[in-house]
Amino acid sequence: MFGKKKPEKTNLEIIDLNEDSALSSDKDPKVLIEFKDVCKKYSQGEHDFYALKDANLTINEGEMVVILGPSGAGKSTLLNLLGGMDSASSGHIMFDGEDLTTYSDNQLTKYRAQNVGVVFQFYNLIPTLTAYENVALMKDIKDDTADPLEALASVGLADHAHQFPSQMSGGEQQRTSIARALAKNPRLLLCDEPTGALDTDTGKEVLKLLQDMSREKNRTVVMVTHNSFFADIADTVIRVKNGGIQSVVHNDTPKDASEVSW
Ligand SMILES: Nc1ncnc2c1ncn2[C@@H]1O[C@H](COP(=O)(O)OP(=O)(O)O)[C@@H](O)[C@H]1O
Ligand SMILES: [Mg+2]
Repeated sequence: MFGKKKPEKTNLEIIDLNEDSALSSDKDPKVLIEFKDVCKKYSQGEHDFYALKDANLTINEGEMVVILGPSGAGKSTLLNLLGGMDSASSGHIMFDGEDLTTYSDNQLTKYRAQNVGVVFQFYNLIPTLTAYENVALMKDIKDDTADPLEALASVGLADHAHQFPSQMSGGEQQRTSIARALAKNPRLLLCDEPTGALDTDTGKEVLKLLQDMSREKNRTVVMVTHNSFFADIADTVIRVKNGGIQSVVHNDTPKDASEVSW
């Protein structure tokens, strides 16, 4: 299939489902991210502990990627490396052809400000600021941010702009945090257990929103979860265990987020 690059490493199991139907995809198959033998190790006394070991993967622009694995597997480590919030011990992390592992602190700060939006399980909104003000904060980080009201409208919260986090439901708070991430117009939207604190129906709404971002706005969405049902809605599923990448599976016929249940 055109442009889809397969890592050569043998520790990866690559399965392409419905390889031919990829030609009918209207997504740009441009490679956005590549991990090459990426390790993250921590020293523990005389021993080294690998939170991530020899990770190889490729993510195309506009994909919805789900990173699956049990607690402690290395999922957040992977996400933090992707977002320039952590640095690798060895290996190379390519973003749009540039190697993040060669970046200075200043360059990494710029990379995060320009390219990365982050959504966390517990929203991380500032409680003393309204939804509007939480989203408007992004102006301090990047010059060309979206209008906060437009960002809130894009997640269905135009009428809630004046509310404080304590006056919103969990789902509304999470949508506000997504609006905040989107206000930066990031190429990469990283989500760590974004539905972890939500009930199923509200979680589905959030998943749908994230899937739409990938499908309609060509944003690259990378979501970490331990919920294996979410694999069905992903273009690519990366399974992580004990700091190792077990498999990278491309799926050309992902389910709609509204169809998934758990
Ligand atoms: N700063 C750190 N120092 C030491 N060990 C860490 C650090 N951060 C993460 N780890 C360890 O790395 C492993 C993977 O962590 P993490 O990526 O957070 O897992 P997950 O998100 O899949 O639950 C865990 O065993 C965790 O304890
Ligand atoms: Mg985690």
